[in-house]
Amino acid sequence: MAPQPGVCLCQIHVVLFVAILAVFPQRDLSSKDSTARQASKMTVTEETTRQDVSLELVDEIKQSLSGTFGMGFDLWELSGGWHVVNDSVISPHQAKHDPLFEPDVPRCLQDVTRENSVCRLAPLDAARSLLIIPITSDHGPLMAATANVSASSAEDLLKLGHLFQSYHDQSRLLVDLDRQKNALIVQIGDSFEELSLFRNFAEQLEISEAVADLSTTFHTALPLVCRTVKAESVVLVFEPRLQDGKPPASPNGFPVDRFVWSGNHTIENNVCLQVIEHFKSDATIQPVVVNRLNETSKSADLPGVRDLILTRMAKGGHQMGWLIAFNRTLRQGLDELGGRLPLSQFEFGSSEANVLSCTARMLAAHWRNVQQFREKEQLLVNMVRVMVSAIEAKDEYTSGHSERVALYSRLLGQALELDESECERLYLTGLVHDVGKIGVSDATLRKKGKLTDKEFKEIKRHPEVGWSILQELEQLRYVLPGVVYHHESCDGKGYPDGLAGEDIPRDGRIIAIADAYDAMTSDRPYRQGMSCTQALSILCDGAGSQWDPQMVRTFVDVSADIAQTQQNYCRKSPPVRCTGNTTAEPSNEKTRRRQQGYTLIEMVTVLMIIAILAVATFPRFLDSLAHHRLQSAAQRIELDLKLARDHAIASSSNCGAKFDVAGDLYVLFPDIKNPDHPTEPYSTRLSREPYHCRLVSVDFGGDNEVVFNGHGVPDSNGSIRVEHRTKQRLILLNGSTGEIVIQ
Ligand SMILES: [Fe+2]
Repeated sequence: MAPQPGVCLCQIHVVLFVAILAVFPQRDLSSKDSTARQASKMTVTEETTRQDVSLELVDEIKQSLSGTFGMGFDLWELSGGWHVVNDSVISPHQAKHDPLFEPDVPRCLQDVTRENSVCRLAPLDAARSLLIIPITSDHGPLMAATANVSASSAEDLLKLGHLFQSYHDQSRLLVDLDRQKNALIVQIGDSFEELSLFRNFAEQLEISEAVADLSTTFHTALPLVCRTVKAESVVLVFEPRLQDGKPPASPNGFPVDRFVWSGNHTIENNVCLQVIEHFKSDATIQPVVVNRLNETSKSADLPGVRDLILTRMAKGGHQMGWLIAFNRTLRQGLDELGGRLPLSQFEFGSSEANVLSCTARMLAAHWRNVQQFREKEQLLVNMVRVMVSAIEAKDEYTSGHSERVALYSRLLGQALELDESECERLYLTGLVHDVGKIGVSDATLRKKGKLTDKEFKEIKRHPEVGWSILQELEQLRYVLPGVVYHHESCDGKGYPDGLAGEDIPRDGRIIAIADAYDAMTSDRPYRQGMSCTQALSILCDGAGSQWDPQMVRTFVDVSADIAQTQQNYCRKSPPVRCTGNTTAEPSNEKTRRRQQGYTLIEMVTVLMIIAILAVATFPRFLDSLAHHRLQSAAQRIELDLKLARDHAIASSSNCGAKFDVAGDLYVLFPDIKNPDHPTEPYSTRLSREPYHCRLVSVDFGGDNEVVFNGHGVPDSNGSIRVEHRTKQRLILLNGSTGEIVIQ
């Protein structure tokens, strides 16, 4: 006989009851008294459920039995002895007047209990039997249904009863499987949430993004953790700085609140500190989990705290702070099948503790990585700044130009709403935009008057020279567009490539405006710097022809900030080194870093940067040095020949210079004295400091000396060739005019 739907519903409820009574596996909690509390909880649950079954389900059980067997059943419950739960089937009158029935039923049920609950018939007399259908749990008999049946139909009804029990067992198995499936689904869901959490972390912790805003990482990560561990709130508590008592700052400089909250911020900050104080000794190695703290004596000290997980945030022995989850959000309730949720669903356990612990470790590692990344980045910027300062030191009037251009470019980038990392790149681009001027001779760079075409051609090479230097540095590739194209013009008349409009890379257009503004507003030896208003006016006039019109408008919009930056700019004076000290008035931070020593990777990084810079710039440095020495030597010869000529004119007698090619020197004659050594004749040795040059050849009409007569006219044309390494310089003397030309 097929069981009816009503039977199934009844059995499901019974089985649910049975399942709830089954003790779920105890969770491996770190809290010391968690197991005792769980046992206490089971007792309460069992009592509650037993009452619920008696009151709510008896009618359904009775109806399903009646629907299956076509007759009424009486329900008995084994609670302090068998007793009738509901006497509506057999009326009190019937029970009272059927002396065979009532006294024998408890005895029969006791037999059933003793014989391990099998559906059975208990003969009452020749005509009647008692059909007994036990309803059991895993712990034994729980209820029993009985019916007084005629002996003639008793055997058939017994078969039906066995079928009923068999179906009952199968249904219970199915429901158990269904429950296990649901438990697995919950477990998979939790695991998926954990995976999602860590995947989101991975996205958040991408170094390029996080560097921009570490605080955003914290504020994004904590809600994910809070949701995953199903806590009312999660808080990140940073360690205070012990040295100065100031609140902690993130590696990129902006302050981070000591308490970063997510979820309902209903617990006071000082309670967090007390939680840490109470439990930190236990949380040194692994997280501490405490549930139902409000039922203990500690709750008075920690108002609002019911459950908590405390985990340490540390990296490499460096304590950064604590991560705390407060109060599990899920409370007691029923699952989809009407059963009570397992204990693990409404208390913190090892799973949640692991999530919090992993999160704390990842945040600590990330923070440390960001710190190290920023230190390396700052090291690179400082190296670049040193390099630029060395170049600018050649001309005091352009000193600081690159840094100001960097500051203006970053401001303009911010006004153009570029993101923070792009603005920082613009700053670095501004710093190095003129690094190619290392390849321009000092004479041209320092020339006060108008440049000749040749000199201008030399100057125009500096963007490309800068590119050739910097392209060696992989880490600085992003500065190349700004370096190469900062002298392009929107009308296509700039250099080096004559690009026009938006074909000019964005960074080139930005640097061009900042560069022009600083050049116009800075003092030069031959002119006073313009006012800001004048410079802005010129920029506006050139907008569209020379400079990007939109960028000029934006630059004008933020001109107050630009002017303020210009005003605040104060070139750092070189540090003063004290005797016996290698640092000059170091800050506390510098002292600490020095005391700790730099890490191997920092030193290797510095050495690599120096090596790369040396490899990239050394040949050009040698070229520049050779050019400088040859030029100095040639100018010295020119001056000395003019000195001899002036002496000749002044004394109206012959004066001249005699060259010794083998000795790399020349002497003025006849009685011209050396102003530095008046007792000695005026001689110059070109192989010595500061020239380090060699005389290659001297030819004055086949002679090695030139003589100026009393009118200052030389006795012949002449040529003098000097050399430094592989480079040479030729000084020509025109015998007719006395003009001296350096080639
Ligand atoms: Fe330039």
